[in-house]
Amino acid sequence: MNYKIFELFEPLNFFEPLNFFKPLKNNLSTNKETQKEDMRNFYAFQAKIYDFTRWTFLYGRNSILKKLPLDRFKPLEILEVGCGTGVNMLQIAKMYPNAKITGLDISNDMLKVAEKNLEKYKDRITLLEKPYEKGNEYTGKFDLILYSYALTMINPHWEELVAQTPNDLKPDGMIAVVDFHEANYDFYRNFMRNSHVRLDGHILPVLNENFAPIISEVRTGLAGVWNYMMFIGLKK
Ligand SMILES: C[S@@+](CC[C@H](N)C(=O)[O-])C[C@H]1O[C@@H](n2cnc3c(N)ncnc32)[C@H](O)[C@@H]1O
Repeated sequence: MNYKIFELFEPLNFFEPLNFFKPLKNNLSTNKETQKEDMRNFYAFQAKIYDFTRWTFLYGRNSILKKLPLDRFKPLEILEVGCGTGVNMLQIAKMYPNAKITGLDISNDMLKVAEKNLEKYKDRITLLEKPYEKGNEYTGKFDLILYSYALTMINPHWEELVAQTPNDLKPDGMIAVVDFHEANYDFYRNFMRNSHVRLDGHILPVLNENFAPIISEVRTGLAGVWNYMMFIGLKK
């Protein structure tokens, strides 16, 4: 069967934002395995609109990259967990001309967009469709592991990933995390839970415990409706 005919109707998917008007559900994943499926389903559509919508509320992504205390010309090994469409990897590739950058994501739809976005730097880029997991093959490999708006979506096992991170860093390696911190109003907490995001201020204390902080900040998001956080910490 020729599926091309269906592709003609793909733009109709843009009406999916009408879901906004449906009653909110708590869609936080409660199981590690179903979390991956939840994400794949969620981003099947969101991948199409991600790059031209997320700059409006995923604050701090560029700022955290500018704050990284890394040697610009070193042959760095960098990992982004939940790299999505590769927006951060693109900036990193430009900022660090000798860095090799690996991006992991479980959404094939997001990775397809990343592949296009990163075409120019493909010699230094590895994109892999898989989750970051405990007991992986990366022991001591990376100078930097970046989580940008990923940990608040990795429920319930985000803490397992934080605990794995030092193992995969070089002795002087660092973690960088930029993400939502806390919702100041219940309506926004619930609204974000509907989109699989947990805003309970739960991540920053654990980062401060597990790494030696260089930067640990909470900043105000749009009109004080939510806060977001930036953390850069060295392996202890
Ligand atoms: C909000 S997006 C952030 C993308 C990118 N880091 C950015 O800053 O634009 C979250 C990404 O994390 C990915 N993700 C969620 N759970 C994951 C998991 N268990 N392993 C790897 N990637 C995951 C999603 O597929 C999605 O692409």
